[in-house]
Amino acid sequence: MGPSDTVLELGCEWGATTQVLAGAGNEVIGTEVSQEVITRAHRLHPDIRFEVLDAFDVRAALNLGKACTKLYRDLSGFSGYRLLLDVIALLTIYSTVLRPDTIVVKSAALKQFPSHCVAWRHSALKPELAPLRGEPGG
Ligand SMILES: C[S@@+](CC[C@H](N)C(=O)[O-])C[C@H]1O[C@@H](n2cnc3c(N)ncnc32)[C@H](O)[C@@H]1O
Repeated sequence: MGPSDTVLELGCEWGATTQVLAGAGNEVIGTEVSQEVITRAHRLHPDIRFEVLDAFDVRAALNLGKACTKLYRDLSGFSGYRLLLDVIALLTIYSTVLRPDTIVVKSAALKQFPSHCVAWRHSALKPELAPLRGEPGG
């Protein structure tokens, strides 16, 4: 990250990570779905910009008025297949509409998910290539 970056944090809670991101010298906007939580975040970190935002309301995200170059979403504590669907929906929305150059998703469940996956490549034509169990990135 550099000084020209603007980081949009979706689901900042009381701003603990927002403060770390701001400390790197970037412009940061911490957002949360609840006004009550945002009020507390702002009280704890008065120098940081916080806004109420439902992460799925991409129009409201556009109305924040900044071209965000980095997107950060902390999903620790969330689990289950709904999480995966929500992340896919969010990534699709933000990568196509806001077009940040980097999206970071923090999630233990998501990190574990690839370890349960098996990569397949041309299995019908080249059976010797599939599955690629244990292949790096597989
Ligand atoms: C794991 S916490 C974030 C913790 C924060 N990164 C920190 O360092 O303290 C996830 C947050 O996402 C918020 N959240 C859940 N659904 C949301 C949504 N649709 N839009 C915005 N925030 C949401 C929750 O209210 C919760 O505060």
